[in-house]
Amino acid sequence: MSFDLIVRNGTIATASDVYPADIAVKEGVIVQIGRDLGEAKDEIDASGKYVLPGGIDSHVHIAQPSGDGIVMADDFESGTRSALFGGNTTILPFCLQEKGQSLREALKRYHALAEGNCYTDVSFHLIISDPTPSVLGQELPALVEDGYTSFKVFMTYEALRLSDAEILDTMDVARRTGALVMVHCENEDAIRYLIGRHEADGQLAPKSHASTRPIAVEREATHRAVSLAEVADVPLVIVHVSNGEAIEEIERARRRGHKVIGETCPQYLMLTADDLDGMDWEGAKFVCSPPPRDKESQQACWDGLERGVFDLFSSDHCPFRYDDPEGKLNPKGANHFRHIPNGIPGVETRLPILFSEGVLKGRIDLPRFVALTSTNQAKTYGLYPQKGTIAIGSDADLTVWDPNLTRTVAHAEMHDGADYSPYEGLELTGWPITTILGGKVMIHDGELLGSKGDGIYRSRGRSNLATR
Ligand code: URP
Ligand code: ZN
Ligand code: ZN
Ligand code: ZN
Repeated sequence: MSFDLIVRNGTIATASDVYPADIAVKEGVIVQIGRDLGEAKDEIDASGKYVLPGGIDSHVHIAQPSGDGIVMADDFESGTRSALFGGNTTILPFCLQEKGQSLREALKRYHALAEGNCYTDVSFHLIISDPTPSVLGQELPALVEDGYTSFKVFMTYEALRLSDAEILDTMDVARRTGALVMVHCENEDAIRYLIGRHEADGQLAPKSHASTRPIAVEREATHRAVSLAEVADVPLVIVHVSNGEAIEEIERARRRGHKVIGETCPQYLMLTADDLDGMDWEGAKFVCSPPPRDKESQQACWDGLERGVFDLFSSDHCPFRYDDPEGKLNPKGANHFRHIPNGIPGVETRLPILFSEGVLKGRIDLPRFVALTSTNQAKTYGLYPQKGTIAIGSDADLTVWDPNLTRTVAHAEMHDGADYSPYEGLELTGWPITTILGGKVMIHDGELLGSKGDGIYRSRGRSNLATR
C-alpha cells in the first residue's frame, strides 16, 4: 500500500497516551500507526516533536456584530488562518440569531461568509436570542437533526438576554432533541444597577467594565443556570468561567449528580482586572465578559483545570480592533466603558499559553492538555472520534508541536484581523510548527501552504460527554 502522507519519528500524544510512532494517511484519514509503514508521496519528519490531534476551539466568534453594531475584526479567512497558525484544525464559531430573524436566515448568512474562505474546518453553534414558539417548536428541532447540535443562551447583554422562562423553554428543546445548551452566566439586572451607580459617580473608564460585572454577578447566574438545567433535566455547558465561586457552583451541582461541563479560557489564567486600568484608554484592549479577575481567581481556574472541574479550555476569541472607528478606542465618541465592544482575540495563542504555563510548569500533564484543547472539545460537541484523537479511521488533522521553541507573543506576528494581542510581550515555550488538515499539509515550518477553502463545514452528531 502506498500512502499519501507519513508523519515520521514523532511522539504521539493523545488524551490517554504518549508514545513514539509514525502515522500513515490516505484519502484524508489515518490508516496506520506504527513503525516501518513503507512509502508515501509526502513525508513530514517530526523528530524531537510531539504529534497532537489538531486543536479544536469550540468557542470562537467570527463576523458577528456587537450589540452596538460594531463588526468583529475577523472574517472567516483571517479567523481560521489565525486558528490554523495556533495549531487548530477545527473551530466552532457562533451563528447569531438577531431579534426577529429565523435561525435558517441567520445560518444562511454565516454559511455564505464561511463557504470557500476557511483554512480550518468549521461548525456552528446557534445563539438563540429570539425563542419564539415557531423557533422552538419547529426550526430548532429540525436544525438539531441537521447537525446543529448545540446552542448558546445569554443571561446578559440587552440584545441577547433571555428570561428564565425562555431559558427553560430552550432547554426543553435540548431535552427533547438531545442537543446541548451552553450558558453565558452573568446577571444583567445586577449589571445595569451597577452601571447606574458608576454613571452617577462619573466612573466611565474601561476599568468600570470589571467593577460593574463583579464575581457575585457571575456566581448568581451560574447558580441559576445549573438550577434551571436541573429543573429542565438537561446537561449544560457553563462557558468562560472566570473565578472560584462560579467553580464552586459547578462542583456543587455535580455533587448533586447533575451533569455540568465547565469551560475556562486563557484570559482567566493570564489577565486580571488591573489590566483594564491601563494608561489612557488602553484598558479597553482587555474588556471581555466575564472580565478578568484577580490572582486568587487565576489560581482557582488553574486548580479547576487540574482537578477536572473544567473539561474544556477554549479561547472565546472575539476580536475587535483597538485604534479604529469600529473598535475599542472611544466607540461612539462616548468616552464610556459600556460602549466598548466586549471580547478579545486569542485563538492563535490558546495552545501555546496552556502548554507553556500549564504543561511546562507542571500544572497539567500532556494527555490532559490534549483532552482540554482537542479531545473533550470533540466529545462535547459531537465530533468524536472523527476528530479530537489520533486513531485509525479518524481524520488526519494533526499538529506537529515543538516543545522547545520559545517565542515572545507579538501582534505583528499573529494572523488575525485585530491590531493588538492582549498577551503582547509574553514569552511562551511550545508552539505548533506544522499543521495538517485532512491529510493536507497546511502549514510547514511556519509557512502557509494551504489555501482558503481547504477547510469545510462539518455537520455534527450529539454530544458524547453530555450523555456519558
Ligand atoms: O466578552 C466576550 N466574551 N465576548 C464574546 C461574547 C461572549 O459572551 O462570549
Ligand atoms: Zn459569552
Ligand atoms: Zn464568547
Ligand atoms: Zn521541514
